Amino acid sequence: MTTTTASRPRIAVLLSGRGSNLAALLRNDCGGDIVVVGSNKAVAKGLDIARDAGIRTFAVSHKDFAAREAFDQALVNELNEHRPDLVVLAGFMRILTPIFTNAFAGRLINIHPSLLPSFPGVDTHERALAEGVKLHGCTVHFVTPVLDAGPIIAQAAVQVDDDDTAETLAAKVLLQEHQIFPYAVRLFCEGRLQVEGQRVRTLPKSPAQVTSGMAAGV
Ligand code: GAR
Repeated sequence: MTTTTASRPRIAVLLSGRGSNLAALLRNDCGGDIVVVGSNKAVAKGLDIARDAGIRTFAVSHKDFAAREAFDQALVNELNEHRPDLVVLAGFMRILTPIFTNAFAGRLINIHPSLLPSFPGVDTHERALAEGVKLHGCTVHFVTPVLDAGPIIAQAAVQVDDDDTAETLAAKVLLQEHQIFPYAVRLFCEGRLQVEGQRVRTLPKSPAQVTSGMAAGV
């Protein structure tokens, strides 16, 4: 037995640029249906990827709003038109206010290019090199009002080699992002994430999920 389309969670994706993480979500069955992809940039490669996949897109420019809160409210309104069960930030380069994070609390997930809580914010690869860490990586986490500080769902580490530059490190980390992002989204869609404070427990598959996985050969 396979899950019917009607019962699959509706996923909205927000991005600002290249969209390689969106492509990774589309390549893998992440257990839900991506129903819309939005951006704060009218021109973004990620929007082209979505259109090519037949997914609806929208753009809301932050430049059209004087205050962050007004932009966030417009984004919330636009997303709610599509009734998402899950909102996924896939390279969405905006700092979000509680207007947004509270609207989707518990169903808002972000991918970040560092092993949080190390290196929240931007320029993570440059900062990892400057600090001389030997392990770097990426994190998928629930989004809360505090930037890059929500409960962690999944992480992957890469080794930092002596000859790494910010560019080579970013490329190594990105490969791992493409692994853990679809995995984490799938866990959410399967209802297997249990949040207890800052910790996220991964619940085992239900008997029905095990059976359907066997039928699908996964
Ligand atoms: C990814 O590396 C993602 O982790 C990062 O932006 C990149 C988007 O790439 N996100 C953040 O820095 C969020 N703070 P993509 O457009 O190819 O998916």
